[in-house]
Amino acid sequence: MKKINKIGILTSGGDAPGLNAVIRAVVITATRQYGWEVVGVHKGFEGLLEDPKTSLVHLELQDVISILQQGGTILGTTNRGHFVFSKDHPEELEDPAVATQALQFCKDNGIDALVAIGGDGTLQIAHQLEKKGLPIVSVPKTIDNDLLGTDYTFGFDTALTTATNAIDQIRTTASSHNRVMVVEVMGRDTGWISLYAGIGAGAHVILIPEIPFKLEPILKQIAWRDSFGANFTIIVVAEGAKPEEGDAMYLEEREEGGMARLGGIAKWLVNQLKDRCGDHDVREVVLGHLQRGGSPTASDRVLCTRFGAEAVHLIAQGRTGTMVSLRGTAIQATDIWKIVARQKFIPYNGDLVQTARGLGICLGD
Ligand code: F6P
Repeated sequence: MKKINKIGILTSGGDAPGLNAVIRAVVITATRQYGWEVVGVHKGFEGLLEDPKTSLVHLELQDVISILQQGGTILGTTNRGHFVFSKDHPEELEDPAVATQALQFCKDNGIDALVAIGGDGTLQIAHQLEKKGLPIVSVPKTIDNDLLGTDYTFGFDTALTTATNAIDQIRTTASSHNRVMVVEVMGRDTGWISLYAGIGAGAHVILIPEIPFKLEPILKQIAWRDSFGANFTIIVVAEGAKPEEGDAMYLEEREEGGMARLGGIAKWLVNQLKDRCGDHDVREVVLGHLQRGGSPTASDRVLCTRFGAEAVHLIAQGRTGTMVSLRGTAIQATDIWKIVARQKFIPYNGDLVQTARGLGICLGD
């Protein structure tokens, strides 16, 4: 095993609350427990293709004071750039030269191993670089909680708390005006944020990508609530939810290297429902990037700290090519090759879905 003197750390893909908490844990653990040098790479993997004078920053104890509670990332991030995967061979980089260049960058700058904090795209890139010989440990970040190999990603708890609080506020105005309120939340192709926040805030209809929906059950639910005088209905819809006869809705196509932007399902739903549910006004609220911002919850701060510390221990043990993960209550490591390019969906017959159904929450099917 190669002796480690210096490690790099980067944050990649869309941001999520807790990135700075992970950076802090990595810097403190690496310097205090192992005496290693730590360098931060600006702008994610893109920083490995740029001038090290501007893209690298030494991180010492004084650089991570009071960043535990700070949202965003002190290193910056990007979710598009040169590490694009081939359309014909999605497991391969379109331009393999970028991986060679990144490896050379690490060699030239004495970076012995890398901590890559990110989601699915990050795992894909990490997998390629590891295969080429750069030791990498990944830390699972995403508000969407859709990464396989871990029960929870960091950022999810904060996003879910933000969404739940927002729906609580929407409830009071919905009730004053006897309205049907449709709240669109993030989550891409999975319904973790919508189902958790919907249950947490006592929503009456929850629509998730895993269960294509019809309009009739939703209209029935509104009428049922009217029948016992509830007179308002909260619908939480995941941005990736789709009607049974139709597809998910997109705001725009992304340029090369990015993903298409989901959005618009709440507005579409309002138009479908507005003339079909009696006297109720129907309004939409899109929570959008609010869910990615702000200070991480206490639970996310603890998870980030455990993840960051474990990432450093894994490098010290030579267990690279792995992602730190939470299984039950234990922090573990999962091989990246086993989980790369796959997603964790809500189990159709899992207890979460059963609990929601048992409480009379309409899931649109
Ligand atoms: O993956 C995190 C996420 O916030 C998704 O929930 C959302 O669809 C997407 O990123 C938005 O990305 P962007 O910030 O690039 O618009």
